[in-house]
Amino acid sequence: GLPLATALPGAAWAQKKIVLGFSQVGAESEWRTANTESIKSAAKDAGIELKFSDAQQKQENQIKAIRAFIAQKVDVIAFSPVVETGWDNVLREAKAAKIPVVLTDRAVNTKDPSLYVTFMGSDFVEEGRKAGRWLVDKMKDQKGEVRIVELQGTVGSAPAIDRKKGFEEIIKADPKFKIVRSQTGDFTRAKGKEVMEAFLKAEGKNGINVLYAHNDDMAIGAIQAIEEAGLKPAKDITIISIDAVKGAFEAMMAGKLNVSIECSPLLGPQLMTAVKDIVAGKPVAKRIVTEEGIFPMETAAAEFPKRKY
Ligand code: AHR
Repeated sequence: GLPLATALPGAAWAQKKIVLGFSQVGAESEWRTANTESIKSAAKDAGIELKFSDAQQKQENQIKAIRAFIAQKVDVIAFSPVVETGWDNVLREAKAAKIPVVLTDRAVNTKDPSLYVTFMGSDFVEEGRKAGRWLVDKMKDQKGEVRIVELQGTVGSAPAIDRKKGFEEIIKADPKFKIVRSQTGDFTRAKGKEVMEAFLKAEGKNGINVLYAHNDDMAIGAIQAIEEAGLKPAKDITIISIDAVKGAFEAMMAGKLNVSIECSPLLGPQLMTAVKDIVAGKPVAKRIVTEEGIFPMETAAAEFPKRKY
């Protein structure tokens, strides 16, 4: 049909609310809950009508949601793709229906970048590098082997692939660093605990020096497993994780987590700005990168009151 601005007379156009369809990954972590909250409140503040759908960590549910948004003729579709691959067909359907698509938080792997307008979110490879650099520095005087276990995020997701890649890129410079076990904990506390229990069983009490968890929730679950095994988290096993959610600050203040690398979930306001610009026909940058810090446990008490998620 005609663009809204031409199809409706002035007054009606001014009153017409922008409708945004958003397909969320799920509610797997504290990060995700904060992200959902940020999107919902930013939509409200911006006067944008939000159709929100939770995919419960399943790609098929996201594809269904996107198809439903196309059928409802929303103005813009935004989504945070649970995994990287397998989106081309549904994105082509959106393009054919002339509905612009925005990627938030996680990227897709596609040969056709015209299938989305912009991708806003963190540089996950850089987060992995930050984790690696922190560890290399912390262990610089260590002579023997450093035995690392890794709790990966959701299989096939951009943050799991990229955080692994960035971390390995840094630690491979010194052969004393060895990833002895690496398995997915699906970004959840329950899985993080379960997999850490298995790691401890397989490697024995003295077989693990470092835990690298792709998010705070899995680290928090793993801390429980470590304590239940009679070990001291952050002392017997150095623990690094990503997100810097409040739960991680609490763990750091309790002396149980060594460092959290920041990944900001507060993407709502910039998403709404992009949506408005897209509808108004203004140009939008193809990539919008989130700025983020690093919080070692020594900084936790001072930073905690300032944290917004
Ligand atoms: O895509 C971002 C990741 O997804 C967060 O780091 C993790 O906590 C979430 O589940």
